[in-house]
Amino acid sequence: MRNLDEHNITAEAHRRIAATPDARLHQIMRSLIQHLHDFAREVKLTEAEWFAGIEYLTKTGQMCNEVRQEFVLLSDTLGLSQLVVAQSHSRAAGMTEQTVFGPFHVEGVPTLIEPGSDIARGTQGEALYVSARVSSGDAPVEGALVDVWHADAEGHYDTQDADWAVERSRLRAVFKTDAEGRFSFWSILPKSYPIPTDGPVGTMMRATKQSPMRPAHIHFRVRKPGFDTLVTHVFADGDPYLDSDVVFGVRSSCIGTYERLSPGTAPDGTRIDRHFYALDFSFALEPDPAG
Ligand SMILES: [Fe+2]
Repeated sequence: MRNLDEHNITAEAHRRIAATPDARLHQIMRSLIQHLHDFAREVKLTEAEWFAGIEYLTKTGQMCNEVRQEFVLLSDTLGLSQLVVAQSHSRAAGMTEQTVFGPFHVEGVPTLIEPGSDIARGTQGEALYVSARVSSGDAPVEGALVDVWHADAEGHYDTQDADWAVERSRLRAVFKTDAEGRFSFWSILPKSYPIPTDGPVGTMMRATKQSPMRPAHIHFRVRKPGFDTLVTHVFADGDPYLDSDVVFGVRSSCIGTYERLSPGTAPDGTRIDRHFYALDFSFALEPDPAG
């Protein structure tokens, strides 16, 4: 077919993928073409704007490396990540809800640290003791693997350090729940922080006058065969950014109390001679619908 114009080119693009053997791929490609073409027609996209878009996506890709995922950040800040999470994990009342994974998780943190370990590893901040419990229904979940990761008091993740290597990880660890479904650790109090704004996502935030702030939180991923893997955060109750999280991630069931305590004996018996914080949180897992 030749002499295509802005009105009949969509049908021709659909015709060319009609023989796609994978039905799901065909559905996704067909819809993507339809929405892309409709978008260009609706805003009457100019050639200069089309090329600016190409350059923007190119820069976004060039910003990505092993530990920096600008495309995830772009998806997060456009609300796409949370949309996909929300439609993939509906939760019954009482279950801990799913939130965005974010770009700062690292696979392969080597050590399964003992309960009560300090994951700050020298990072400055206000001491925080976290004790948590994983259950499903009334039963504790023993042997679940719990990935924990969070930013320091300045809002930086260790992977943003110039000399970061997995063996120099800090503020991240993997724990295993005990027979009562419990795990615990020491760290420092997380603070609200801006997402990285030195790349294309920052350019978009400034151009659209959006705040780059996220409310203070710790990330958790809880896994055990037979349960739907829980990827969530525990946000700090009272944080001023709970209702304006730049990545749309806050759920009411994921807000915890980071309680400020006086010097004395911590919940694990540790003597502490300065103010510190304690978070006690329960995660409720949903059985995997696929078994
Ligand atoms: Fe985070």
